[in-house]
Amino acid sequence: MDVRVTDGIAGLVEPDRVHRSVYADPAIFDLEMERIFGRAWIYVGHESQVPNPGDYHQALIGRQSVFMVRAPEGGVHVLFNRCAHKGAKLVAFPDGNVGKFIRCPFHGWNFKCDGSLHSVPVREGYQGTRFDPGDPEFSVRRVPRQASYRGFVFASLAADGPDLESFLGGIKTSLDNFCDRAPEGEVEVAGGVFRVWQHSNWKIFFENLNDTSHPMVTHESSVNAARARYKAMNGEAKMPFKLLIIEGNGEPYEFWDKLEMVAYDHGHSYMGAIFVPPTDPVSLAHIETLKAAYGEARTQEILNIQRHNSIIYPSCSPHTSFQQLRVIRPIAVDRTMVEIYTFRLKGAPEALFQRAITYANVVNSPSSNVMPDDIEVYARCQQGLETEGGEWVSLHRDAGRDRPIAGGFVANGLSELPMRNQFRAWAQYMAVP
Ligand SMILES: [Fe+2]
Repeated sequence: MDVRVTDGIAGLVEPDRVHRSVYADPAIFDLEMERIFGRAWIYVGHESQVPNPGDYHQALIGRQSVFMVRAPEGGVHVLFNRCAHKGAKLVAFPDGNVGKFIRCPFHGWNFKCDGSLHSVPVREGYQGTRFDPGDPEFSVRRVPRQASYRGFVFASLAADGPDLESFLGGIKTSLDNFCDRAPEGEVEVAGGVFRVWQHSNWKIFFENLNDTSHPMVTHESSVNAARARYKAMNGEAKMPFKLLIIEGNGEPYEFWDKLEMVAYDHGHSYMGAIFVPPTDPVSLAHIETLKAAYGEARTQEILNIQRHNSIIYPSCSPHTSFQQLRVIRPIAVDRTMVEIYTFRLKGAPEALFQRAITYANVVNSPSSNVMPDDIEVYARCQQGLETEGGEWVSLHRDAGRDRPIAGGFVANGLSELPMRNQFRAWAQYMAVP
């Protein structure tokens, strides 16, 4: 397959199909780390994960280990996780606190939270040498660019390129709606995190996030289990939330085809929500707090935006109506790590956060009834794509029928527009050496 890489990658992506090597060839993966993850804005974390001075959160940008850290002055800095002395990784845990300074565990060089060198032990030893504490060479390197949008921190390894807001384009509305649903207009990460290892290429997961023709097939067993459970509860008028969010995957094709499907430049997209309108007591209590904060008209405007998964390509996926954020970290051509965070809407009733936790447990947890269905088929795709049983992957459904809008396209809900859109961005990134 590596013959293809030397031939050039342009031939691997066509408007309605992609070559299997984009999922299976380690050389392509290496190139993606450079040309996509070395350029795009990549989600690092949310500012609420580092509320106090010295708090840090570790993340991966492509193969680069970085961390964001809260400075005593209040700002958040995204730094490479590498000591300027011998190169040791400075922070070891996913989350923690560095204390007053970032202290290397090897020889005790100390850095400020903006990365600048604070002190080295036995300073006299450096007198008369080329060591210069003012030289950036002796500070922790900052990522070339960082920016945050409504508390969501992104970084780019490229010094040049579109700014964060131009990069987000139309999908910015999903982050806005995520936060606007909080009566105080802000969200915070709360609860723990699920980490899921997928034995498959990162793009398989991204494609599935807006894949509306898999739920009734892939999730058939969990849908059937939810229906059987509800039947056994004879007499209960309303399906409990926990069952409803599993059973929703069993909707017929006509239902999915009516959902809104919107794709934007840079690979982003979203699909309309499955569980609307919200009429349960938890939603009603939430709506009351929104009305008190924003008034009737603005509340309606906020609730009119009902979305299932949004895709911020190539690093994360917010679920605005159940306050989830999935973070996608490619590890190898056939390994992907996905982190699932749950958010609290500031000023909303506690029951709403509890519902978000329930959603995470029932749908997104590695031990849920739903997520393992997906993980299994992703691994099967990876294994199948590594065989010589075929060269191409089909993206034909509703191809050629995407309707242009400002900055993107719309289509019917069952369209494979989101996948074609991701590969349109993929090809653009990959074409530039
Ligand atoms: Fe699924």
